[in-house]
Amino acid sequence: MKMMLTRLIYTSRYVPGNRGPLSDFRAILESSRANNYVHHVTGFLFFDKRNFLQILEGNGLAVDTIFDRIQGDVRHEDIAVIARSRIARRRFAVWAMGGVVRSPVLDPIFADYGILDDFPDNLPEDVIVDFCEDVLKFEDQRLSSRVLRAPTGPAEPLQYRFQ
Ligand SMILES: Cc1cc2nc3c(=O)[nH]c(=O)nc-3n(C[C@H](O)[C@H](O)[C@H](O)COP(=O)(O)O)c2cc1C
Repeated sequence: MKMMLTRLIYTSRYVPGNRGPLSDFRAILESSRANNYVHHVTGFLFFDKRNFLQILEGNGLAVDTIFDRIQGDVRHEDIAVIARSRIARRRFAVWAMGGVVRSPVLDPIFADYGILDDFPDNLPEDVIVDFCEDVLKFEDQRLSSRVLRAPTGPAEPLQYRFQ
């Protein structure tokens, strides 16, 4: 029998600390990747230096456990759940947590979805997921994303593959 998967999508507002937004974002991705990998949770985190949009997918209990922890994180506030649904398959299956920061190179994708001057949180659930997948694939191929690849230190694994 197939495992029933849950997908949770939420937005929140970044609370600046003293590390700076990109450094906070990198740290969040690093712990996300390590923890989510263990729980077979996959997903995507988008950040425009003011707001987060996150998709978490996996076993319902695992997603809720991780989301409980995320909700207590002082690096963001005003957490708003957009959707919590059962899904048939993962859309970010090879990403323990794909991360992208908004930059002008993404403008054509934003234009495709008609949200050039806005944050992608007012779209229908399925369209948000399509948008996130497009953005992640674009940045993955571009390979110059400073967030997907650590600018210093040893090579950070881009993604964790589940067998
Ligand atoms: C916007 C945002 C998204 C986050 N996403 C995740 C996540 O997907 N998985 C995770 O384990 N922690 C995530 N975190 C971090 C957790 O809140 C928490 O800091 C972390 O899980 C602690 O784990 P560690 O002690 O192993 O670093 C997120 C935090 C923020 C602010």
